[in-house]
Amino acid sequence: MANTATIEINGQKNEFPLYTGTENEVAIDISKLRGTTGGVTTIDPGYKNTGSCVSGITFLDGEKGILRYRGYSIEELAEKADFLEVAYLLIFGDLPTTAELDKFHADIKKHAVVDDDVKKILDAFPKSAHPMGVLSSLTSALTAFNPSSVNVESEEEMYNAIVRILGKFPILVAWTMRKKLGLPLYYGDSSLGYVENILKMMFKQPNEDKYTQNPILVNALDKLLILHADHEQNCSTSTVRIVGSSHAGLFASLSAGISALWGPLHGGANQAVLEMLEAIKEDGGDTKKYMGKAKDKADPFRLMGFGHRVYKNFDPRAKIIKVAADEVLGDLGVQDPILDIAKGLEKEALEDQYFVDRKLYPNVDFYSGIIYRAMGIPVDMFTVMFALGRLPGWIAQWREMRLRKEPIGRPRQVYIGENERAFKAIADR
Ligand code: CMC
Repeated sequence: MANTATIEINGQKNEFPLYTGTENEVAIDISKLRGTTGGVTTIDPGYKNTGSCVSGITFLDGEKGILRYRGYSIEELAEKADFLEVAYLLIFGDLPTTAELDKFHADIKKHAVVDDDVKKILDAFPKSAHPMGVLSSLTSALTAFNPSSVNVESEEEMYNAIVRILGKFPILVAWTMRKKLGLPLYYGDSSLGYVENILKMMFKQPNEDKYTQNPILVNALDKLLILHADHEQNCSTSTVRIVGSSHAGLFASLSAGISALWGPLHGGANQAVLEMLEAIKEDGGDTKKYMGKAKDKADPFRLMGFGHRVYKNFDPRAKIIKVAADEVLGDLGVQDPILDIAKGLEKEALEDQYFVDRKLYPNVDFYSGIIYRAMGIPVDMFTVMFALGRLPGWIAQWREMRLRKEPIGRPRQVYIGENERAFKAIADR
């Protein structure tokens, strides 16, 4: 195969190098297009076919339904690894040895504390505040209490910033939920594993002397966090990279990523799915009616939890989550009619020509909310749980972008506004 592509514009041929990845993905390197063609640029709204970077973190093949972190399949990681191991793998490139993992966890625990003044900021939010807004603000607020900027030339400083946020972020997540539920704020328990500690911080009741871990919940949360840990250049990750590319700090970049994740087309879909399933249940469980609405172009309703920008086949994460939802509900002895509605809707959609033609399959968020609900997590906290899972991915992508010394992100546009015109005095308009 030739390693150049020719673009002919008004009879003038221009050659551009082809870039081939380790999984044989081919891209045309158009970084010099503007210079060699006298100002021609490309246009691709939503970046549907634009590679914004080269990356060695996550590989996904949307046509085949493959997802791998650093070369390891998501199926194997979800079955055999724990979340902290996966976080280390994503950020540093390889699975940790026992000594490396122990040190990583010990360093995270040293930073599992936030300044008491953060509590005051949290207290200033009304109870009705959406947890994603609170989380984004608190993450941004951390910059005030940890003002030193990270010198990315120093591996040590980079490492310290990473363990710091991995220690503090679960506290912000747990406090956001506890504030919402009117529970007293509680610091973690350093004797516990990373995920066990998160559960205790979230769920320990004031009248409880001893919080007893439920292994079903630990296992379910571990799996959910692993499945959400990275997904290459999605909306929030691209946001983290682009904000970080201006050399804004790690916490500021993460806070921007949280806001990007919030929307219902992205991470907010898990909340939207559950609200949709509830609405269908309240409406008598008529799934056909909602299928009709989803297909009606005059109706803004979409089947939340269906479709994906890159998966044109089953989302491999959804397959794992569907099985996990059955297991978790079974193990916890929870009968949730919502699960039956979800399964019914999925069956109908998979057989429906509209969904078949557009290759719309259930995505990661179709079943995750059902598990979160069975775990006792409030619906508006679901996207916060997604953010908790995505944290190592965002960190890994930010680190990679800084280590590769990527330039500031600054897309072009094609201007379609007014041509130059003379100013008119207000009396003449
Ligand atoms: N229900 C009904 N129709 C849909 C849906 C849906 N959920 N998703 C896409 N379509 C239709 C869409 O109307 C369009 O039809 P047509 O070609 O006739 O105009 C076609 O399928 C292609 O859709 P698109 O909006 O051009 O695709 P996109 O790549 O821009 O959007 C998406 C991807 C995920 C935003 C979209 O599928 C969607 O809105 N899904 C529902 C929200 C959701 O579940 N989001 C979570 C994504 S997974 C979590 C994450 O990683 O963010």
